[in-house]
Amino acid sequence: MQTATEKLKLSEISPRIMQSEIRAMTVECDRVGGVNLAQGVCDTELPPQVQEAAIRAIRDGFNIYTRLDGIAPLRNAIARKFAHYNRIDADPDAELLVTSGATGALHATVMALLNPGDEVLLFEPLYGYHVNTLLSMRVRPVAVPLAMHTWEIDFDRLEAAVTPNTRAMVLNTPINPCGKVFTRAEMERLAAFATRHDLFVITDEIYEYFLFDGAKHVSMGSLPGMAERTITISGLSKTFSITGWRIGYLRADRRWLGSIAYFHDLTFVCSPSPFQYGAAAGLVELDDTFYAGLSTEYEKKRDLLCGALRDAGLTPLVPTGAYYVLADVSSIPGATAKEKARTLLAKTGIAAVAGTAFFTGGRGEDLLRFCFAKKQPDLERACAALRSL
Ligand SMILES: Cc1ncc(COP(=O)(O)O)c(C=O)c1O
Repeated sequence: MQTATEKLKLSEISPRIMQSEIRAMTVECDRVGGVNLAQGVCDTELPPQVQEAAIRAIRDGFNIYTRLDGIAPLRNAIARKFAHYNRIDADPDAELLVTSGATGALHATVMALLNPGDEVLLFEPLYGYHVNTLLSMRVRPVAVPLAMHTWEIDFDRLEAAVTPNTRAMVLNTPINPCGKVFTRAEMERLAAFATRHDLFVITDEIYEYFLFDGAKHVSMGSLPGMAERTITISGLSKTFSITGWRIGYLRADRRWLGSIAYFHDLTFVCSPSPFQYGAAAGLVELDDTFYAGLSTEYEKKRDLLCGALRDAGLTPLVPTGAYYVLADVSSIPGATAKEKARTLLAKTGIAAVAGTAFFTGGRGEDLLRFCFAKKQPDLERACAALRSL
């Protein structure tokens, strides 16, 4: 029996933050024993150097809290990576923070920089955690749609979305779910826009090494004049296939870093110590061929999945980055994307995510998102099942 009470109730924000549709599909997929292309869990192998260094760290007793900004070997390795790959200068002692994944990095950044009622611009299709992290801190996400299918920026709409309360934009490149990689020219226009409106730019570059058809990753923080207002967030979940380890990082100007680190400490204390050692070993020991290999390997997986989708009569919107494909599934029976996802699961045993999870305003009903970060035999099995549609 429920107690009649005024005070035993959820917070105002809780009912607005739903269990993600991705998790719901995963549960349903497990129930029917299907192949899960819904969740972005890459179950591919992690590099042996990374694995061995973490195990060694546990055996060697590195099992206690670390410094709140992370262990020195990892911060030094991240600084070198920022200089080499992203063309960003980062002082490992004052401008870098090792975080509990890119997720923890965004959480701490929002806590440190934004106030309830502030507005933050994001491009749509969106990654749900970005929206919900903002909402959980009473910050207002303002979605600006990219052109459907071409994913071009409508700069007029972007300008029109700015109000006196706009404080920041969240910029994900390559984008989960559509795989758009922002070009240098687009980045330069966005940098000018952010500067003109005096906004922070909070990036999410977690898929920075998953690039296809010759696409190049450009970091906002590397553009002239953008270092102070850009918080560059990335992590190793995807690059090293260690989503469960919770190793991410950010680079911020020293004016912001202390406060971001403080809030990260308050929630997470530190990233898991032995995994920081594992990640550091990977960054030190793996060279450019490893990272280039990711693009080659995942481009093949992309092509395999897109081919199977076409054979099944679906239309893939071929991505140039990240490891998801949005596909037009108008031909699958069902009134909504959720119904189409359930029909597909029932007919083929393949779980995908309803496109509506990535859009506001009723868009995405004809789309499903498929993840191709799968071990090769599982992906081949999934492709054969799709072809049976
Ligand atoms: C765009 C994006 N950012 C962040 C994450 C999560 O990153 P992390 O594991 O580092 O928290 C994901 C995972 O799916 C993602 O798609």
